[in-house]
Amino acid sequence: MNRQHPKSLKRVRWLSLRDPEEVAQRACAHVLRCAARAVNERGRFRLVLAGGSTPASTYQRLARAAADWHHWQIYFSDERCLPPDNADRNSRMAQQTWLDRVTIPAENIHIIAAENEPEQGARAYASQVAAALPFDLVLLGLGDDGHTASLFPDQKHPASELVHAVRNAPKPPPERITLSIAALSRSREVLFLVTGRDKRDAVAAWQAGACLPAARIGPDAVVTVLLDADADPSKPF
Ligand code: 6PG
Repeated sequence: MNRQHPKSLKRVRWLSLRDPEEVAQRACAHVLRCAARAVNERGRFRLVLAGGSTPASTYQRLARAAADWHHWQIYFSDERCLPPDNADRNSRMAQQTWLDRVTIPAENIHIIAAENEPEQGARAYASQVAAALPFDLVLLGLGDDGHTASLFPDQKHPASELVHAVRNAPKPPPERITLSIAALSRSREVLFLVTGRDKRDAVAAWQAGACLPAARIGPDAVVTVLLDADADPSKPF
């Protein structure tokens, strides 16, 4: 297995927390802190949302928070190629748990058009991403194989792309659209939310220097990983 450069390992900050609720609480506070700083310094907050199920409890907490929502610009790390109203769409999860409950202007929520061919959607989203870089904060999850967004081990993509079309993804659905390592790395901060025993081996491999997709995000960004005890290989279970 390829190894990471030792410098890459050093720049990741691992925070081991009690349980998924504490991860959600710390993640929500981190997002709000980043937002306040970005709005104060730059008049806007450009946030990339993670997909999957882990971030749902963080999004539910954000739905109850008070913030300058009209300064927020929302992007998505990846999207599954499904109809827009399909419950398995990452954008639908974010809308139902948070975005439909706060006053972020609709034009500030940049949904990935993933209902057509992935190549077409990737090209269209790349121009939106190019106009948004650098992000202020990127939220990401971690798969049990070390994937993040829809960047899977053993799948190669042109490094020059900001957004990739994905086919034959090992995690259904097979067709997806994902921001690239390059795009996800063009952020002031990256925050991973990782909970559950099924992530423990991927975390251990990452910490041991495996060159997993999640481990390749950086190197200029400040990368923080929030772990619960179940996902932390240094904790007994
Ligand atoms: C997706 C996500 C994916 C997810 C991880 C973790 O479309 O599924 O983008 O990268 O973040 O697979 O998923 P869970 O949070 O559901 O464990």
